[in-house]
Amino acid sequence: MTDLNTLGETWDKLGKYNAFWAVLSDKKQWNEKEFFETGRKEIKQVLDNLKKHKVTPSHGKAMDFGCGLGRLTQALGKYFDEVVGVDIASSMIKQATDLNKLKNVSFKHVTSGDLAPFKTGTFDLVFTDIVFQHMENEYTLHYIEEMHRILKRGGVLVFQLPSEPTNTWKGLLIKGLPDNMLTYLRKGMEMHPIRKDKVIQHLQDTGFNVITAEHDSNHKHWDAYFYYASKT
Ligand SMILES: C[S@@+](CC[C@H](N)C(=O)[O-])C[C@H]1O[C@@H](n2cnc3c(N)ncnc32)[C@H](O)[C@@H]1O
Repeated sequence: MTDLNTLGETWDKLGKYNAFWAVLSDKKQWNEKEFFETGRKEIKQVLDNLKKHKVTPSHGKAMDFGCGLGRLTQALGKYFDEVVGVDIASSMIKQATDLNKLKNVSFKHVTSGDLAPFKTGTFDLVFTDIVFQHMENEYTLHYIEEMHRILKRGGVLVFQLPSEPTNTWKGLLIKGLPDNMLTYLRKGMEMHPIRKDKVIQHLQDTGFNVITAEHDSNHKHWDAYFYYASKT
């Protein structure tokens, strides 16, 4: 199992090598404005989906876990009074801070494998996208428990996670090739899906009410979902 120091070092190097690409690897060179626009669209979609399910979290405090350059943190800052972006890589936190334009958004380097720096029952929304997939399942399951702890009653957790590779040619390659070779080809980014039924079971065991699991159409070679859950 990859320890958290190694995971942090890998992401720190990726952040120094090409942070924009490490966050959204469909382009090697990103235009900053376009990059942040993807975040605004995504957060609007998430909040619209919550509305569709008649869930309206208070717009007090939000967390963007695994914030990278703050693409989604700043987008959340338009809706919430206070937003904190958390990341394991100091290179990401430094660049996110430099790129930040909002007073109500801040960033924190967290390497402990939990959310210990944050008080119980203090967040209205915890969000995380394309983060859990890059760490071993045990870490993900523990972070979900921590997210439950830091949310207020009625607070909402939204996260994305692949369930399994699809049957596209690349999906079949992912199923067939050894994990260490795939990690090498992705410059150290590990991929760790969790099956949808197991995720839902864990959410329920942790005490969440599962609102919905929406298919994430951004990934052709992975059957991935956005999970929406509330703390009852
Ligand atoms: C692919 S990037 C996505 C960044 C951001 N969520 C976005 O979509 O714009 C993954 C991010 O997760 C961070 N990360 C990976 N493991 C983490 C962990 N255990 N705790 C906090 N951040 C982590 C990485 O440093 C990196 O910035």
